[in-house]
Amino acid sequence: MEIRSNRCSGRLRLVFAAVLTAAMFVTCAANAAGDAARGETLYQGCQDCHSIEKNDVGPMHKGVVGRTAGTVPGYNYSAALRNAKIVWTEANLDKWLTNPQGFIPGTKMFYQVNNPQDRADIIAFLKERAR
Ligand code: HEC
Repeated sequence: MEIRSNRCSGRLRLVFAAVLTAAMFVTCAANAAGDAARGETLYQGCQDCHSIEKNDVGPMHKGVVGRTAGTVPGYNYSAALRNAKIVWTEANLDKWLTNPQGFIPGTKMFYQVNNPQDRADIIAFLKERAR
């Protein structure tokens, strides 16, 4: 009897571990996609220079995901960004926020976001709210 119940709890433990693993996987997938609500809070750091709706120290962010870099009318871009000829895909935004100067040498943006999760969340926010 005892042996049997041990086996049973062993199996239960295995099932539990599998469920946990699956839960972790789901959580990671959600994280990779980015959390727009968290991104909204992090975006406050960008607002020293940016807003969604109008040009400021930096260009407005409306429509930025999918937009060609350096193309907001009325904003005075650096030559580097104006001539970059890239599209702001999520992957490019991630590289940009990691190190703008490294990604597009000569740009006048000097703000970087070191944490990958923070970058993903900010990008999720831009994608959802800056359309
Ligand atoms: C200290 C000011 C400052 C901060 C803070 C800042 N930026 Fe910028 N950003 C700029 C400037 C200036 C430019 C224009 C760069 C150029 O012309 O080379 C720019 C350009 C950009 C561009 C290119 C847009 C386009 O139209 O091509 C993106 C995207 C961007 N910033 C995103 C962000 C995000 C997201 C944050 C916050 C995580 C942020 N920036 C924080 C100053 C800033």
